Amino acid sequence: MTHADSTPFDRHRLVIAVDGTSGSGKSSTSRGVAERLGLRYLDTGAMFRAMTWWLLREGIDVRDAAAVAAAVGRPAIESGTDPRDPTITVDGVDVSVEIRSDEVNGAVSPVSAVPEVRARLLDLQRAVIGDGGIVVEGRDIGSVVWPQAEVKVYLSADPDARAQRRAAEQGGTDVASTQQSLLERDRIDSGRATAPLTMADGAVHVDSTHLTLPEVIDQIVALASTPRDTGTRDA
Ligand code: DC
Repeated sequence: MTHADSTPFDRHRLVIAVDGTSGSGKSSTSRGVAERLGLRYLDTGAMFRAMTWWLLREGIDVRDAAAVAAAVGRPAIESGTDPRDPTITVDGVDVSVEIRSDEVNGAVSPVSAVPEVRARLLDLQRAVIGDGGIVVEGRDIGSVVWPQAEVKVYLSADPDARAQRRAAEQGGTDVASTQQSLLERDRIDSGRATAPLTMADGAVHVDSTHLTLPEVIDQIVALASTPRDTGTRDA
């Protein structure tokens, strides 16, 4: 790791927003960028997953938006922001493994569409971002959570590439069913009324389909080395 990469922004205040679809490489990329630039890292998807895990454990019907809305204030969700060892706890219990289960994968998009869930987690996300110095990954970071981010990236990759990466991460699970699950989440995440997945104003589109992880990290570190202009653009 090197902290030698230069950036015209105040490193202690810099916010890099990385949005994109499931499996586009957001987590590995965001962690890598945070390590390279000596920044903190926040995985907002893990927060939605943690809320979903807790709702399932409490036996709350995740398709019942009113029941979900009534419960959102109860769990204490905390994110550790070290990019080398990001953590997520619910009521003090580490749930980093549990939140990646098929059960959570299947329930997290409908839970994320409930406005009260988003409002609760938005407060937590903004509190963690605080004065900045952080790479934040999610779906609505550049559009809703932190529109003033100095660097905004929209990361995408072809569905085939995404499914193959995710299946490999999960120890060789079936690529076809992984792809179906990713596309179903994309459909709900992009179509919901509140804070849908979208390319934010000022975001730079990086298509990672044919790029290696270090190449994607390099592109984003390079963006953090040049002041951003307005309007969306391709890298
Ligand atoms: O990035 P991920 O696959 O771990 O995210 C899991 C789900 O959380 C995703 O399907 C949508 C939701 N999510 C969201 O709605 N807004 C965010 N900022 C991050 C994730």
